[in-house]
Amino acid sequence: MEFKIAPSILAADFLHLEKDIRLVNECGDVIHLDVMDGSLVPNISFGFSVIDQVAKIARAPMDAHLMVVHPERWFERLAADRVAMCSFHLEAAGDDTAEFLGRIRALGMQAGVAINPDVPVERLFPYIGKADYFLVMSVFAGFGGQKFIAESLTRVAALRAEIEKRGEQAIIEVDGGITLANVRQVREAGVNLAVAGSSVYGASDPAAAIRALREA
Ligand code: DX5
Ligand code: ZN
Repeated sequence: MEFKIAPSILAADFLHLEKDIRLVNECGDVIHLDVMDGSLVPNISFGFSVIDQVAKIARAPMDAHLMVVHPERWFERLAADRVAMCSFHLEAAGDDTAEFLGRIRALGMQAGVAINPDVPVERLFPYIGKADYFLVMSVFAGFGGQKFIAESLTRVAALRAEIEKRGEQAIIEVDGGITLANVRQVREAGVNLAVAGSSVYGASDPAAAIRALREA
């Protein structure tokens, strides 16, 4: 199974963001954009004033991770910025989840559902076949630099098994605390897209860090 790395620009140098985006264009696979509203999660990151600029130089596909209470307000603007993948939290969407997935797909983006570590992974199962990807948080959404929650591995494996049992296909993305120490286990559990913030941008050689994570 193909395994890709999505550097999270939450950990980038915002005074030199262009450099950190070009790094992903050249060495990474996907540009992970963490959008936080200070309500769904206890932090605020960035919005369209930043994403519009990133879109101008992005060559790698952009992946928007919406940690906001009303994700549906932003789908059209993300599509206009040529964002390729768009996920929102099940905790925010509730019963509207299937409808939101359909709206994202209708806008030409890949549609994803994200869950925090305290949401049972089985709650994703009804969306197998309706979502292009599932984002299993391996830390509580809101901040970079947290420690990987090891139980995430069994959650991913259960989700991968259910997808295969149903004969469906989906990307499983994992986000939070990914380092060289755990990336191989993450991959073996059935993940095909790993987000990495601090372990990429905090490294002395971020390009080498991306390669090492991908090949671990
Ligand atoms: C956390 C974000 C993550 C974060 C990951 O809410 O969704 O994408 O940037 O950062 P690290 O890799 O430092 O845990
Ligand atoms: Zn994220």
